[in-house]
Amino acid sequence: MIIGILNSGGDCPGINAVIEGFVSAAYQRAWRVIGFHDGFEGLLPMAGGRRYELLTPMKTHKIRAFGGTILGTTNTGNFNVHVNKFGSASIDKETMAKAKKTITALGLQALVVIGGDGSAKTAQLFSEEGLPVICIPKTINNDLCTASDYTFGFQSAVSVVSESIDRIRTTANAHKRIMVIEVMGNLSGWIALHSGIAASADVVLIPEIEFDLDKVVDCIKARKASGQREIIVVVAEGAKLNGKWVTVKSTERGEERLGGIGNRLCRLLQELTGFTTRYCVLGHTQRGGSPCSFDRILGIRFGVEAVKLIEQKRFGVSLVLNGPQVGSVSIDEAVAQPRMVQPDSQIVQTARELGIIFGDRSAAEMAAEIKGKAPAAKRTCKSKSAKPSAGEGK
Ligand code: F6P
Repeated sequence: MIIGILNSGGDCPGINAVIEGFVSAAYQRAWRVIGFHDGFEGLLPMAGGRRYELLTPMKTHKIRAFGGTILGTTNTGNFNVHVNKFGSASIDKETMAKAKKTITALGLQALVVIGGDGSAKTAQLFSEEGLPVICIPKTINNDLCTASDYTFGFQSAVSVVSESIDRIRTTANAHKRIMVIEVMGNLSGWIALHSGIAASADVVLIPEIEFDLDKVVDCIKARKASGQREIIVVVAEGAKLNGKWVTVKSTERGEERLGGIGNRLCRLLQELTGFTTRYCVLGHTQRGGSPCSFDRILGIRFGVEAVKLIEQKRFGVSLVLNGPQVGSVSIDEAVAQPRMVQPDSQIVQTARELGIIFGDRSAAEMAAEIKGKAPAAKRTCKSKSAKPSAGEGK
């Protein structure tokens, strides 16, 4: 068997773990693995050289601990893989024909695509052309597919953000400042929500819960009035300010990209609260560095399971993490619905119980909500001699 593997779109911690897992399991079966460079671009001929290499366990041994990807990647190029609100996946006929020619010339019996939403849609186009494709979901955003509990890369990004917030907190506390921290996530708020909980943020602003700036200001003023020194605001790049996304122009294609809400919010909060406010955009630190152990293990599991799917000749599918099991769904299902934070989910309720401000309630509304949950009768203290009832004290 000769199998091709590539990763496409933005990199994320854990890609190398997938490659290592895949190559190890493939070599146990005496298969040859060809790794394509720089995403789908590696399938296109290049004057004066090839854009792929034979991957052996010698080359991939222990790369599970490294960030980035040994194959290189791109989220631009001939395969339009931007499928957020700014575009959709498409491949022109000539490009597809060239890619198919490479696949045939190398005698590939399967192509494994490690990618996010854009890459999965591109893989779907390959699958529709009759090519045997398997997708492995990757993204720090965790927004890929409703069928998968997590994508690898997400937990590593959350760890980086949480540690950064811990650091920012000490200086914010010293100066009694409001700090606005802008995080990635594309159109989802997973990174902001999880890191906000992990690092005790006061305010978490995410695309899935529309916020009212006046309510955010009201809550911050109430916290400051209660004597709190620092206020930590975590804002997802995809959160809307006054109903609109904040974007910057990307340099290479003149295309609009999410970014800049941290700066805008910082200026507004300083103006509206009167407290000194600074902002910090964590940017690509969230995608860089070594994968955490969860992402290494998930990456390796995905790589190994992809080999098993090929063995069973199950193509046109994407791997998913479903509870403790790695399973698979059709690529169509994987790309059908992005995975977004549900405003009424348990994790959001947990954050609310911690007092996290989402900007959809004023300080008085938040207080009333807590009061509403309190039992009508006064709590009575148990006497010291009272025996614990079943289940208590365990
Ligand atoms: O999709 C992953 C992601 O990191 C997003 O969270 C972010 O919006 C985007 O990629 C950044 O892309 P680039 O590396 O092209 O700036």
